[in-house]
Formats: sequence, C-alpha cells, structure tokens
Amino acid sequence: MCGIIAYTGKRQAAGILYDGLTRLEYRGYDSAGIAVVNGLRLDYVKRAGRVSAVADARALSGTCGVGHTRWATHGGAEDRNAHPHVCGKFAVVHNGIIENYAVLKRELTDMGHSFSSDTDSETVSHLLSSFYRGDFLSAVRQTVEQLRGSFALCVLCSDFPETIVCVRQKSPLILGRAKDGMLAASDIPALGGCREICVLSDGQIACLTPADCKLFSFSLAPLPCKFTASDLKSCVAEKKGFAHFMRKEISQEGAAVVRTARAFDEAEARRLFGCVPYAEAFSRIFLVGCGTAYHSALTGARLLEETLRIPVAAELASEFCCRKPLLGRHALVLAVSQSGETADTLAAARLAKQKGARLAVLTNAGYSSLARLSDHCFLTEAGVEVGVAATKTYAAQLAFFYALCAFLRGEKAAYLRRFPAIHKKLSEGEEQIRLLAAEIVRARGVYFIGRGADYASALEGSLKLREVSYLPGAGYAAGELKHGSIALMDGDAVVVAVATGKALKEKMRTSVCEVRSRGAKVIAVTPFDDIPADHVLALPACPQKYYPLLTQVPLQLLAYHAALCRGLDPDRPRNLAKSVTVE
Ligand code: AGP
Repeated sequence: MCGIIAYTGKRQAAGILYDGLTRLEYRGYDSAGIAVVNGLRLDYVKRAGRVSAVADARALSGTCGVGHTRWATHGGAEDRNAHPHVCGKFAVVHNGIIENYAVLKRELTDMGHSFSSDTDSETVSHLLSSFYRGDFLSAVRQTVEQLRGSFALCVLCSDFPETIVCVRQKSPLILGRAKDGMLAASDIPALGGCREICVLSDGQIACLTPADCKLFSFSLAPLPCKFTASDLKSCVAEKKGFAHFMRKEISQEGAAVVRTARAFDEAEARRLFGCVPYAEAFSRIFLVGCGTAYHSALTGARLLEETLRIPVAAELASEFCCRKPLLGRHALVLAVSQSGETADTLAAARLAKQKGARLAVLTNAGYSSLARLSDHCFLTEAGVEVGVAATKTYAAQLAFFYALCAFLRGEKAAYLRRFPAIHKKLSEGEEQIRLLAAEIVRARGVYFIGRGADYASALEGSLKLREVSYLPGAGYAAGELKHGSIALMDGDAVVVAVATGKALKEKMRTSVCEVRSRGAKVIAVTPFDDIPADHVLALPACPQKYYPLLTQVPLQLLAYHAALCRGLDPDRPRNLAKSVTVE
C-alpha cells in the first residue's frame, strides 16, 4: 500500500526522501513522487512506475520535503495520479481513503477549483488552498474537519520552507528524530537512522521543524510530545546472498519460531486469561485475520479449542464486521496480523472493543495500530519481513499458538526448539521441489486439498502459489471436492494433497484416488509412504499437532520456485501490497 516519508533538517531533503522511498518499496506500489520546498517555491517530480522512475528528483534542491509511493485505489497508475498533489502553496502526500471525496470535489469544483487527477487525495490539497489565510496550522485544522475516512497526511506549504505538518487518522504515521533533522514515515523501516521515535495516535496533528516537534489535537489543543529511544538499525533489509527476500525469509523460519516461542509472554497470557482453569475466562473466542494471518488463525483456533474446550472460531476479518458476531464481555477477540496495520483486521478489532469484548492482538509490529488498540499484545519475533508473501511471519504465528496452548496446559512447547534442524532437513528437498515446480507451471489449475488440520495448510499453500506465481487454483477441504470442485479435475489439473492426519489417512487416500482417476496429477505432502500420489514431498514424522508448521516449508518453496519458473519476481507480486491499509 502507499508509503509516506518526510524530512526537514539541515541536509538536502531529496536524497533522504529517495532513500526512504526505496525502503518503502516492499510495501507494494505503482507510482512514486517527491516534493521539496525550494526557497518559497515547491518543486516536485512524480511518475507512475518504480521508485527509480523518479531518480532525477534527487537533484531537487531544498532541506524540507515529502515523498510517497502510491498503490492505486482511486484512479489508475498514471503520472497525474501519483503523489504529491500540489495546489497553490501546498503539496500533500496521503495514505488512506477520503471517503467523502466525491462530495468535496463537487463543492470545490463549484467554487472554481480544477482537478488534475482522479484521486480522492487531491481534494486535500485543494481544501488546504481554499482555507489558507496565512496560518498553516489553521488551514490544516479546517481541512481535517472536512475529511471522512482514513488519512495519514504530510503537508508542505511554500510560505513555511522548514515546516511539515503531519496528520494521523486511522492510517499509521510515525515521527523520527535524527541527528540533523526530523522525519515522518508511514512505516518503521523508512526511519532507519533515527534514534528516537514517536508514534502518532489517531486525531493528532504534528508540526515538524528541523529541531522541534509540536503536537496538537485536531482542534489544535497542544498535546505532550514524547519521543522514545529506538534502535532502528536492524530494520535495514538486505538479501544477504539470497536471490530474493522471500527465499531468505523462508530460510529464517527456524530462528523466527525459536525466538517467538522463547519470547512468549506468559505474564501477558496470565493477565489475559486471568483465572485457573483458563477455560472459564471466556465463553467464546474469535480469531480474526486476513489472508495468511487468517490461515494461521484457523490452525490457532483448532489448537485453542482442543486445549480449552470452549468454542473458538477463526473468522475472516473482512467478513467479521458484515454480520453481528456474538460479542460482549465474555468474548475474546484475538486479532492476528503481521503488519498490525491491515484495515480489515483493524475494523474487526474496533468492532470487538465497541461491543465490549476483550481484544488481544498477535502481531510482528509492536508499534502498529493494532498493537496500540489492543488490551493485550503478543509479539511474534520474526524480524522484518520484506517479501510481500508472508513466510516467516506465518511460521512465527503458528509458533505462538503452540506456545500459548502449551502454556494453557501448563506445559512447554519443547518441540519448537527442534524446528530449526527439521527446517534444514526439509529445505534439503528443495531440488525435488524445484523440478516439481517446473512441472506444475504447465497445469491449467493447481488445487490444494487437505482434511482436518491440513485444510488450513492447503488454503495457505494455495494462496502462496497464487500470489507469487499467478497460477490459477484454489484450496479445498478434501471432503468437499466431490460436492462440486471435482468437476475441475482432468489431465490438465494438478492436485497438491496435504495428508498428515493419521486418523484421516484413509479418507485422504480416497480423495487422491478420486482425482487421479479423472486424470489429475497428484503431489502428496505427507509423512506416509502409502498415499497413492504421482510425486511425494516427504515430511519427517513429528507429533501430530506440529505438522502444519512442517507442511508450510515445502509449500512455500513450491510457490517460490513456481514464480521463478515463470520468470516472476516473488518479492513483488503484481497488484499486491505488504500491508493492506484500505478496507
Ligand atoms: C500473505 O502472503 C499475503 N500477502 C496476505 O494475505 C496477508 O497475509 C494479509 O494481507 C494480512 O496481512 P497482515 O498479516 O499484515 O494483517
């Protein structure tokens, strides 16, 4: 999704902004731009394409500026829709959605404003211009009063050549203090080099000058501004000899799992579940998330329900708010999100709070909006994940659920300590996976099936393959095939059958026979040697409940190699963003 970077200080801004944009590239975007105040003039460059398309912006002169990577929502990926949007003395970069932009645009047009883009964001620069009477902050206040929706804004005004005004409402914005100036960014990695940070809250306006930051409410009442020390060096992402971040991050899963299990916050878990027996703390539990986080929630829900013996359901966050879930003070909602900024998950979390449920969050980003909204925050220790496809954060989320359930049973999830060695062994099968990937890319469709705990693995394996290789397909509960989707099976279909459940083996054998007899090629991911598949990706034997953690390794590698076979960059799948900050 869109990324924001802003700088005011002693150095030339453009190079710093360009560097910040390159650190935001991993979020997914389709255009980029930079504006600086040059004397009392605004200079800017913005174009559709990659950040490198605005490399010439590095020559812009001025010590105060803003930069943006745009992920198109309103209006296509064209130069004119890229940010910053400039109107009169104002340049604006915006993340989020201005929900009432159509009304505002109509009113501004009636007042004589003419628009040069199709975006919702451009209304902000026009509003600023229309309200401005020489007082920068007051123009921002009046503008913000008009806006509905989600917005993180960084605004330049050419009358104030050293000032950036930042606004946060339901879209993240973090301030950073560097040696030679102040920065603002939508995402921590862009603030590398800052020794202190301040995470803005919703409803706050910050006024940045080279050596100072003043904080206000939306009505311009002064607020205390507290920066905290932070070591952001570790956020600088490097491939460390790997061809892609995705492959590097898969290789880091062993360490991510061990770190997450070790860091499991027992004190927070005790606070959350409050009493012994823990099963009495809540009458029902909802795990909400999107995409991969939803798939880990499916596994987490199974494990938790088995452990607590109370109803635990995994829910798609985007659907959670579309019905009337049974929330209240006896319900716990655990929101799962690596980024902690996913708009759908945030909406579900807000609904939970509004209805009086307890809100816990599992995230990889301690500074994120979800972390700040939660009553109880648990962290995965996966480290920064740059690849758009979630890999090591998924493994870390699973590790958290194993650690949580072990804690609730009064045990330790000792098996997780062995995972790095098992991961290494699983990775030794990469050459076989590469050859199979070369085969499956010729299929018309690739379908993943599983039963019981393997169903979530099938969904995740399929999502991973689709997002990085664009191969059509889906994940199905194996038992559901015969109720419709078996119609897809023929000689051009490939089926990846995840079969790890001992008690479900015979049923999986039947599903495999059914699809093979219709011509589909079957790859089994299994510890068993009697699944009648065309190819077997063998899993080592392990305690039954840990198979989802093992299964995801060959499935992620299969997706990675399928992307390479198709000549695609798995780190930057088309149309996708690392952090999906719009609903
Ligand atoms: C995963 O590979 C995807 N990129 C996507 O499904 C992702 O898991 C989803 O958007 C949720 O993101 P979150 O964990 O940051 O909330």
